[in-house]
Amino acid sequence: MESINTLKGYGKVSDQENQIPPSSPLPKPSSRKTLVAIVSLLLILAIVALTAGVFTRPPSHNPPPSNSLKAVCAVTPYPQTCLDALSSSSLKESDPESILELSLRIASEKVSALSVSFRSIDDVPGEEPAVKDCAKLYADAGSQLNETLSEIVAEKKGGGNWMTEKVVGDVKTWISAAMTDGETCSDGLEEMGTVVGNEIKREMVRVNQMMSVCLAIVSQMKKLLLVFH
Ligand SMILES: *[C@@H]1O[C@H](CO)[C@@H](O)[C@H](O)[C@H]1NC(C)=O
Repeated sequence: MESINTLKGYGKVSDQENQIPPSSPLPKPSSRKTLVAIVSLLLILAIVALTAGVFTRPPSHNPPPSNSLKAVCAVTPYPQTCLDALSSSSLKESDPESILELSLRIASEKVSALSVSFRSIDDVPGEEPAVKDCAKLYADAGSQLNETLSEIVAEKKGGGNWMTEKVVGDVKTWISAAMTDGETCSDGLEEMGTVVGNEIKREMVRVNQMMSVCLAIVSQMKKLLLVFH
């Protein structure tokens, strides 16, 4: 119906144009009809394209997660945390190795940011020793994850099958060490009865979950590679 109205609308425009004095340089009626037909056709195509776009657009602002991303996140203990973190990031390649790399990058950024948050509340007078410890622990965890990433990037440059038992073993050890730092922070806060803000508490949960996600992906890498290749 919309397209018919559009056509009627154009008919009206051309009627009005006919009333313009003949002195104005109007195209010949036949070519104007062709022009109206072309414009109408383009409009109809645009409406069809827009309508199709509305129905295929996902409800979230992020592009829909690829099937490989869903499959990789499904092997982790926190698939939703994994999907949320990785879908909002630009994932160029969707093989399990690239997904592992990206999840480590996101984890290291989050961990480092959390360390900065702890450091900033440590600046408040009446400092709590547990808060100071947490700032150090998460900074340590961040360096640990960054070194893991550098190692992976270096191994990948060598080409071939870089995900050897040794590399996988090392990566698992380093991520576990970073996770232990997170646990030590939580234990310290609890033991000292230190109260931190809800925002930091929530971020600690997310960060710790994200590290578990990384550990799960690397632990299941062999299986994932079999599925994907
Ligand atoms: C880890 O690397 C990220 C990204 O390069 C950086 O923002 C962060 O400060 C690093 N963290 C630490 C603890 O070095």
